[in-house]
Amino acid sequence: MTHRVDAPEQAIDFNNENANTSANPTFESVLGARLSRRGLLRGSVGSVGTAMLAGFGVSACGGSDDPAVTPPPTGSKLLGFGAVPKSLADVVAVPAGYTASVIFALGDPIAAGVAAYKNDGTDGDFDKRAGDHHDGMEWFGLGADGKRSDNATERGLLAINHEATTDEKLSSYFLHANGGTTTLPRPAAEIDKETAIHGIAVIEVAKSGGKWAYAQNSALNFRLTSLSPIEISGPARGSAQLFTKFSPTGTTTRGTLNNCGTGRTPWGTFLTGEENWFGYFTRGAADDAARGNDKSVTSLKRYGRTQGAASRHGWESGGADDKYQRWNNSKTGTSVDGTDDYRNEMNGMGYIVEIDAYDKTRMAKKRTGLGRFAHESAAFGKVVAGQPLSIYMGDDSRGEYIYKFVSTATWNAADANANDRLAIGDKYLDSGKLYAAKFNADGTGSWVELSLTNTAISGYATYKFADAADIVINTRLAADAVGATKMDRPEWNAVNPANGEVYFTLTNNSARSANPGSGQYLPDAANPRAYTDMKGTTKQEGNPNGHMVRLKEGTSVLAFTWDVYLFGAEASADKTLINISALTDEQDFSSPDGLAFSKATGICWIQTDDGAYTDVSNCMMMAAVPGQVGDGSKKTLTYTKTDGSKFDVVTPVGKAATADTLKRFLVGPKGCEITGLTETPDGKTIFVNIQHPGESTGMANLADPAKFQSQWPANAGYGAGKRPRSATIVITKNDGGNIGT
Ligand code: FEO
Ligand code: CA
Ligand code: CA
Ligand code: CA
Repeated sequence: MTHRVDAPEQAIDFNNENANTSANPTFESVLGARLSRRGLLRGSVGSVGTAMLAGFGVSACGGSDDPAVTPPPTGSKLLGFGAVPKSLADVVAVPAGYTASVIFALGDPIAAGVAAYKNDGTDGDFDKRAGDHHDGMEWFGLGADGKRSDNATERGLLAINHEATTDEKLSSYFLHANGGTTTLPRPAAEIDKETAIHGIAVIEVAKSGGKWAYAQNSALNFRLTSLSPIEISGPARGSAQLFTKFSPTGTTTRGTLNNCGTGRTPWGTFLTGEENWFGYFTRGAADDAARGNDKSVTSLKRYGRTQGAASRHGWESGGADDKYQRWNNSKTGTSVDGTDDYRNEMNGMGYIVEIDAYDKTRMAKKRTGLGRFAHESAAFGKVVAGQPLSIYMGDDSRGEYIYKFVSTATWNAADANANDRLAIGDKYLDSGKLYAAKFNADGTGSWVELSLTNTAISGYATYKFADAADIVINTRLAADAVGATKMDRPEWNAVNPANGEVYFTLTNNSARSANPGSGQYLPDAANPRAYTDMKGTTKQEGNPNGHMVRLKEGTSVLAFTWDVYLFGAEASADKTLINISALTDEQDFSSPDGLAFSKATGICWIQTDDGAYTDVSNCMMMAAVPGQVGDGSKKTLTYTKTDGSKFDVVTPVGKAATADTLKRFLVGPKGCEITGLTETPDGKTIFVNIQHPGESTGMANLADPAKFQSQWPANAGYGAGKRPRSATIVITKNDGGNIGT
C-alpha cells in the first residue's frame, strides 16, 4: 500500500494511522547518554570486501535445518551488474543482461472459461481473476506430478497478496467504467467487485520454451477474498471478543484483508499479514455510549477506529445483506454478547493468516498467537532441530513496535514434509510466547514477554487485560504497557540466511522531531534522524527517507544487540545528519519497505514504497550484500532545540556500503511501489510485484488515457486497455546465471 509522505492531508489516512498515544519511552530519558564503546564494538568485525559466491550456500545453511540450496557457480561476482540509474520513465528498468516480463496482472483470469480482461471497467467475476495491488509473494515448487516439490525450479505456485486498490473518494475507480460512485450509499454491484479484488491469489506458473507464464486453467489456482470463511486459531479462538452474528462462538470469520507482507513456513505453507484492515470498517457517531464506554472503546481507539469513523469504501452501505452490514463495527443489536450484530467484527482482522497453497480445499487459519496489529511480513529465524521456532514481525504505523513469537514446540525436522501442513501449523503457531522489542541506547535490546505474569500488563491502568486471548487481540495495548520502543513505521523484516540476523525496514516517520509537538516524539538511538527534506517547495519533516535496523539474538531468548544497517537518503544530502550511510547516486533510495534475502545467493533485496524522493526517481529495488551487527561504528547526531540548547543522539551504525555491497537493480514505472519478491531455489528466477502504477491518475482523468499517470503494463505490450494495472513480473538473467550477479 502506498505510504507517500507527501500525500495531501486527508481527514482520514487509512494507510498511515497514528493511534499510539501511549506515554511509552522513546528514549527521552536516555538522550545524550553516552554509549559504551566496548558494547558497540564487541563481536567480530568481519570484512565483506568483494563478495564472491563460492561456498555461500554451505555457510548459509550451516547448523540449521533450512532446505539445502545449490551454491551458485564459483567465481560469479555478486552485484556484478551495472547499476540502474534513477528514472522517471514509465517502464520497468533492469540492468543490461537481464530480462523482466509481465506474467500476471490485475484482472487476469485464473479459471477455465473466464474471459480475458478487457480493462475498461466492465469486467466482473473478480473472484476468478487476479486481485488488485499485488504485494508480498512466496514460491511453492511443484513436481511433474503436480504435487509439492521443494527443489522444483521451473514449475510452481505463486501465492500473492492483493493488498488494496487504487481509490479516490470511496471508489476503486479503475475498476468501474465511469470511475464508480463517490457518495453513500454505494451500489452493491460496485462493492461486490471491490470486496473480490482484495485478499490473496494462488496461481500455477511454469517455464516452457524458455518463457515463464501462469496457467489460467490450472486446477490448483484459487482466490481468497475479503469474504472467504477463515478459521480462528490459537489463543483468541472462542473468545467472547470474537462473538459475531456470523460466528456466535468466535471460531470463524470472513475474509482476509489488506494483505501486505508474507512468510513461508518451514513446513511449506503461506503466511500473509493483514495490515491496514481497520480502515474498511465504520463506527457510529454515538457508539462509545452505546457500548457503555466499556473497555472495547479503548481497544477500538488504539486500533484507529474512533466513533464516527468513516470506512474507506463505504462497503457497509450496499444493503441489508449481512455481507455488507458486517463492515459496520457499531453496536446495533440488543444482545449482551454481540451475537446479533458486528460490534466485534474488527477483532477478526489484524492477524497472520496461514494458508495451504497446495490445497485449496483447506480453510485458512488466523494464527492469533502471533498478535493483532498492522502486520507486515513474518520471517522465521534460523530453524534448528530441537529448538523452538522464532518468527519476527513489525507493526506498520507511526510509532508502533517490533515483535517476535517463539513457539512452545521445538522443531522436529520430520514436520517439514508432513502431509497435513495446517496441523503442523497448529503445533508451532498456536502455542508460544509473544514478545515486544525494547531498544536501548547502548546497542543492546530486550524482548519483553506480553503475558499476564508481567505485572506491567496485569496491572495496566489504561486497559484491564482479562486473559491470554485479550492480550493477543489487543497486542498494541499490551506492548504499550511494557514500554516497547516506538519505531519509525516497521515494514517488512527478513532473516539473513548466512547468520540469522534479523533486518527490519523502517520506512519513514513524519512524527519524529527534535522539537516534538502533539503526537510527535524525539529522535532516539534506534530512530535517530529528524530533519527536513525538500520536495520542490514542499517541506518533508521527520524521517522522510527511512532507515533499516538489524538485530542479532543473544544467548538468552530475551536479549539482542542491534545497529542501524542503512539510512535511506538522497546522495546529495548532508552526510552528518541525513546521508549518514554516504550513499552515492548508484545507491541512494528512500522509504525502504519490501525486504527479502535470497537463500541461493545471500543477496538482501530492498524495495521502496516512496513519496519523498519521487520527484527524482520512481520506486526501486536495491541489491545489497550486508555484513553483520557491530561491523561499523557509532555516530553522534547533534540536534538544536528551539530554545537554542543542544542534545546528542548516539547510534551504532553498520559498516558503510561500497559499490560492491549496495547497488540499484530495478526502477519501476510511474506511481508504483515495488514490493514482494520470491525466487526459485536455484536463484535463477525471481518474481517481483509492481503495485499501483499510475496511482495518482485521479478519477477526473479516467476518460483520457493520455492523462493517465502511467499506462504500464499496456505500454510494455501486456494486455488490453490502457488503464494501469498492478502486476507480477518475472526476471531472468540472459546468460542463465543467478539473479544479482
Ligand atoms: Fe502495505 Fe506497510 O505496507
Ligand atoms: Ca507499503
Ligand atoms: Ca528531496
Ligand atoms: Ca509494505
